[in-house]
Amino acid sequence: MKSNIFIKTCNITAAMILVFFLAVATVTTVIGEDKSMTAEELRKAAAAKAAALIKAPPGGKWKATAEEALEALKLSGDPEEGQEIYDVCAACHFPTGWGDPLGVFPQLAGQHTTVLIKQISDIRAKNRDNPTMYPFAMQIEGAQDIVDVCAYIQTRKMNPNPRIGPGGPSWILSNMRKEVWPISLDKIQQKVGNANFKKLKSLEEKEFKSKKEFQDALAKAIGAEELKKHEAVILENADWVNDLKIGKKLYEENCVRCHGDHGQGNWKQPVEVKEGQTAETDKTKMEPGYFPVIAGQTYLYLIRQFSWIQIGKRRNANPDMVKQIKNFTFRDMKSVVDYASRFKMQEGDWQEVGDKDEAGWDLGEEEEDDDTPAHLKD
Ligand code: HEC
Ligand code: HEC
Repeated sequence: MKSNIFIKTCNITAAMILVFFLAVATVTTVIGEDKSMTAEELRKAAAAKAAALIKAPPGGKWKATAEEALEALKLSGDPEEGQEIYDVCAACHFPTGWGDPLGVFPQLAGQHTTVLIKQISDIRAKNRDNPTMYPFAMQIEGAQDIVDVCAYIQTRKMNPNPRIGPGGPSWILSNMRKEVWPISLDKIQQKVGNANFKKLKSLEEKEFKSKKEFQDALAKAIGAEELKKHEAVILENADWVNDLKIGKKLYEENCVRCHGDHGQGNWKQPVEVKEGQTAETDKTKMEPGYFPVIAGQTYLYLIRQFSWIQIGKRRNANPDMVKQIKNFTFRDMKSVVDYASRFKMQEGDWQEVGDKDEAGWDLGEEEEDDDTPAHLKD
């Protein structure tokens, strides 16, 4: 047995309490506003401001791929060891590995091992900012522990009923967007005053499919008189219009090549053809791919990551994706993510991963030992 004593003795309850402090601490930037601008102009200004704040520290790039990740890819994971390590992860990502419905903690179950390894190593190497998880990620002792915990995560089944997007017009009081988009609960708080705001908080994160239903709930919370005074500002900051038709079109045109036709991601890709080699030589070779499964992931988590990737806040993001979504508007983003949040994994997506009888890697017999990352072999 390897020593994960620190992790084992870590008090889960204490971790849970910490989680909520840290989760609050992760929400930071508040964006200024100029009344004369349209919402879209405000969004652009806010995104530019946020982008300007981001300094690219050394290693802040997509495939800075930490040594540790490369080492981990060669190793074979032990799910029993991994289960012990996962105890600490479970405090936030839940024992099921499903994360939480508000998308503060992502679902890990069902994610490609390559992606998990890359993200954990990036977080440990401070190549992806995650102040909430960082201290816990650092309790992992090294590459072997990373593959062990990933091997355990691989045994968890995905959430069969994840939280999807609203799929059309909806009204929601949510703080999720304030770091990126110039609409937020803070704005409402400033305008309606603390007493009203306290009452409104009872509606936070609840989605209303019709405006009327939302207005009735608002009136019930703060009274019809107060609502009349503040309705405009509340609606302006709660409007959430998604269009699945736009989402489908955008997904098909912009996302399929990397995330697959139903959000299944990709854990393998053809080896890049290098100077002096022919494509023919490399046709049979594959290397690990780091394209996440987005099917079945919580909508609000996807929205946050997507917007962080767009403005550069998620520093380890794929630069080609950043380029691809550069000109997406607020509605584009919400629509495409809403559409993608409805994908389900399909028969065949899973068996490929780690199944040695599967021809997925398409490697010649003699090359297999050298080139196939060990965790993908068993
Ligand atoms: C204190 C809470 C906390 C703990 C404990 C924790 N995480 Fe996380 N983890 C998070 C949060 C929050 C995020 C999402 C951060 C963000 O929004 O960018 C995250 C993200 C991740 C991701 C990236 C997922 C993706 O789709 O990109 C992986 C992988 C991950 N965690 C693995 C682990 C593992 C393995 C452990 C246990 C060793 C662990 N986490 C423990 C809070 C935690
Ligand atoms: C050129 C390839 C590429 C394209 C095109 C692309 N992505 Fe990505 N995407 C990636 C990679 C790679 C990552 C993981 C980045 C990393 O290593 O941190 C990612 C991450 C994400 C994430 C965060 C997932 C997580 O678990 O944290 C979301 C959400 C996402 N992409 C959505 C989309 C959508 C929607 C589109 C189309 C509008 C799109 N992407 C287009 C490559 C791409």
